[in-house]
Amino acid sequence: MCGIIGYIGKEDAVPIIVDGLKKLEYRGYDSAGIAVLGYNGFDVVKQKGRLAILEERLASRLLENKPLSGRLGIGHTRWATHGEPSDINSHPHVGSKNKIAVVHNGIIENYKQLKERLEHSEHGVSFASQTDSEVIAQLAEHYYSGDIIDAVIKVSNAVEGSYALGIMCIDEPDTLVAVKKDNPLIIGVSDHGNFIASDVPAVLKHTNKVYYLNDKEIAVLKEGKVQFFNMDKEPLKKKIETITWSMDSAEKGGYPHFMLKEIMEQPRVLRDTIQSVFNDGKNKNVLDSVNISGYNKIVITACGSAFNAGVTAKYVFEKLCRISVDVELASEFRYKDAIIDNKTLVILVSQSGETADTIAAMREAKSKRAATLSIVNVVGSTIAKETDYCLFTAAGPEIAVATTKAFSAQLVLLYILAVRFALKTGKLTHKEEEAQLAEIASLPDKVKMLFEQIDAIQKYASTCVGYKSIFFIGRNIDYAIALEGSLKLKEISYIHSEAYAGGELKHGTISLVEENTLVVALSNCERLYGKIMSNAQQVISRGAKVLFIGNCPRDDTESEKLYYINLPKAAELFSPSLSVIVLQLFSYYVAANKGLDIDKPRNLAKSVTVE
Ligand code: G6P
Repeated sequence: MCGIIGYIGKEDAVPIIVDGLKKLEYRGYDSAGIAVLGYNGFDVVKQKGRLAILEERLASRLLENKPLSGRLGIGHTRWATHGEPSDINSHPHVGSKNKIAVVHNGIIENYKQLKERLEHSEHGVSFASQTDSEVIAQLAEHYYSGDIIDAVIKVSNAVEGSYALGIMCIDEPDTLVAVKKDNPLIIGVSDHGNFIASDVPAVLKHTNKVYYLNDKEIAVLKEGKVQFFNMDKEPLKKKIETITWSMDSAEKGGYPHFMLKEIMEQPRVLRDTIQSVFNDGKNKNVLDSVNISGYNKIVITACGSAFNAGVTAKYVFEKLCRISVDVELASEFRYKDAIIDNKTLVILVSQSGETADTIAAMREAKSKRAATLSIVNVVGSTIAKETDYCLFTAAGPEIAVATTKAFSAQLVLLYILAVRFALKTGKLTHKEEEAQLAEIASLPDKVKMLFEQIDAIQKYASTCVGYKSIFFIGRNIDYAIALEGSLKLKEISYIHSEAYAGGELKHGTISLVEENTLVVALSNCERLYGKIMSNAQQVISRGAKVLFIGNCPRDDTESEKLYYINLPKAAELFSPSLSVIVLQLFSYYVAANKGLDIDKPRNLAKSVTVE
């Protein structure tokens, strides 16, 4: 959580940092701040609340003829962990000697001990905030004796926990230093200056050339130069990477929200992701090289929507490959002493590739010698780098906190993986494999067809803003995708919501159904249509309304209590890719009708890099 950015170069750092923070706000938005190093030392503007408030503060500084300006600066957008969101707890933090300023993403676990030590030291350091992060600025000042790299090495050796840091020192005004452990940090290089940032979109406007910093590597940025060092201060050679994401992908492009834009991008994202496994390249190589016959068990582990992609994929793997699949929440898997060994394939699904629990699950799997395969959207991310095999989703940057296009891309890669494994293990013939792949390849056009119903979905959603609770039901793979529908709705609309397997309704949940409850019923499994429809009738007869989303031939007439949204026909196993589009649009329009901040739902962050 938290986004950091820094710039050193020929241009004014302030607009560059503010613009970069806008692209990082998905990582947290409790407070924002910026510091520049000018002739008179540090100039810091920071406060509680969204970036928009910081912009207002910067604008009033301009009106007062005291603009914030400088060619070296750092910025931060916060998701509070230690210390409430407040002006004083906002970053950047400056040490009490006013010598060193720091922005931090991560958690310093031993900050209390370090703080006490500094408070009781010879000079009696006094702390201004309640954050763990301030200890870094204070500690760096404590260690500083003329060389900022030496001080950063000492800080890195003293702190426990996770960090991505941007550091400026008043005595070295031509230098911006960065270091990281267990949190992402990229270094961007451009003609006019160099950058540090938590994520690529923050610098994409200026450059597509980046270095990915590894744990405990130090980057030292000057106006026209970037150098890297290890913790023994030995220079490192690093490979520069070229980012293929376009700048447009990090802009709203006329849509009111990133979420809607990202929903609408899905036909292209699906097509690109499907293509990526057939064109020569990394994904094709990975798919060709995983030897599924070497494993007798598959475990899929992930968090949030990525977990729901795993639950959905379980039905596909088990049906096509006849291999048993466990799906585990990464936050549980990491602590459960899982029964896995070198005959297990652990699949990790993560948009960001940086989710702390998923990283821990990956390391747990590796420590038990299981093979690891990841499905990740962000090239250069920790999970992409550390797993044995990595398949990349071609979703491009996803900015809205609630995932849509990355989820859909994860699903299709999981389908293709299952089909390929089924072929390799002799469960499918070549002909059958081709037929399955043709079904998958038809999905992007079917999603486009679905977009023709946007008006109807929007209209129905506009009638749903008043519900206190909305339930989602489905059976088999429809139940799996109901989980995602429910999560999406609660994330962005703040309406309480649960997903249930249709058959479970009568075991308790039905007691919650009353007059004016909404139940969203999913039905793409034709063989189970009758069952889910009788669940729908059971809740209707208890006063509920039902939104029925499916592709089965229907025999109940629409009424005031029962509304249908029809999906194009698709193979049962791949139909979640269509249902989910309706579920995303439904959630989006419910939230939009409530006038909520859809791209940045309260209390959430996109990249959850803390436990
Ligand atoms: C957060 C996001 C979700 C996402 C989950 C896992 O909760 O809001 O949209 O599914 O993290 O993130 P990952 O990057 O691992 O897919």
